[in-house]
Amino acid sequence: MDKERLVTTMSLKEDEDQTLRPKTLGQYIGQNDIKDMLSVYIQAALKRKEALDHILLYGPPGLGKTTLAQIVANELGVQIRITSGPAIERSGDLAAVLSSLAPGDVLFIDEIHRLPRFVEEVLYSAMEDYVLDIVIGKDSESRSIRIDLPPFTLIGATTRFGDLSAPLRERFGVVMRLNYYDIDDLEQIVSRTSRVYETTITEDAVSALAKRSRGTPRIANRLFRRVRDFAEIIGDGTITTDITNHALSKLGIDHNGLDHTDFRYLKSIVTMFGGGPVGIETIAATISEEITTVEDVYEPYLMQEGYIKRTPRGRVATEKTYQALGLKYYKGLFGDER
Ligand SMILES: Nc1ncnc2c1ncn2[C@@H]1O[C@H](COP(=O)(O)OP(=O)(O)O)[C@@H](O)[C@H]1O
Ligand SMILES: [Mg+2]
Repeated sequence: MDKERLVTTMSLKEDEDQTLRPKTLGQYIGQNDIKDMLSVYIQAALKRKEALDHILLYGPPGLGKTTLAQIVANELGVQIRITSGPAIERSGDLAAVLSSLAPGDVLFIDEIHRLPRFVEEVLYSAMEDYVLDIVIGKDSESRSIRIDLPPFTLIGATTRFGDLSAPLRERFGVVMRLNYYDIDDLEQIVSRTSRVYETTITEDAVSALAKRSRGTPRIANRLFRRVRDFAEIIGDGTITTDITNHALSKLGIDHNGLDHTDFRYLKSIVTMFGGGPVGIETIAATISEEITTVEDVYEPYLMQEGYIKRTPRGRVATEKTYQALGLKYYKGLFGDER
């Protein structure tokens, strides 16, 4: 992945700015269906004095999965333990985390699709019956021991719902998909960020930033920080539309929020493969990116915005892509396939 890529949805150090993270459901902007349901489940769990059912959150990076997990724990008034699929290499790692939980606590496992299979199998009984069955010793010497766990809530997050095994998926009582945010929500997020940072921003600049955030709060916040730098250096600190446009064009981000990696991706389909259909492996190799990065990070937004279509034979560029690239689109050139 391009280190310089500003609209990367991967978490950078500066994104871990905890001051920006909403702490309550009320502060969490958008995703209204999810908030409404969570609010009911949280109240019900509190009323029954029981652990909340296990929750699976999925969707593209930067949309607020980790934030939501922290909010759930906060609203329940319990502790949250945060770990990730790749960090749990042995069943002993899982046992250690699970046995540190107090009754009702939240265990958050990020990138849960990357849990090793045998660890996943240990997780099943923990989720279902709050017990840990661990095998110790080898071969004929081996025996299984059972450890009781306190009731807890597992919150799993993933960008790849399809990579989760069916048995794991089925053990979540609540499965929620986060969607890209609309401009209205993003405007609210940008305004909130500007309040948190005590920065002045004009209404037009709020819209300009929202429009270029790829439907993603993490990117909105990151663009905000970059534009704020420009406002402080070339302006009087106020973020105006002029400064926003100037900064974003310097940063190589077009008026729809696409950056040079998006353009490389779209250009490869159009100029090297005649607009497609072309397989994902080929595109990824052409632009020297990992297939999973292309699939999880670049494509979901480009697809939602109608730049590309997924067909059984591969990715196909649309008229919108040709427009974005400033090229002429010949409709019907490839028959009904496109
Ligand atoms: N609904 C929201 N309202 C306001 N800010 C949000 C919202 N969702 C995410 N954010 C901001 O975006 C950043 C990225 O969110 P995060 O929870 O880390 O995403 P994910 O875990 O899905 O990759 C957070 O630090 C937070 O500041
Ligand atoms: Mg996260």
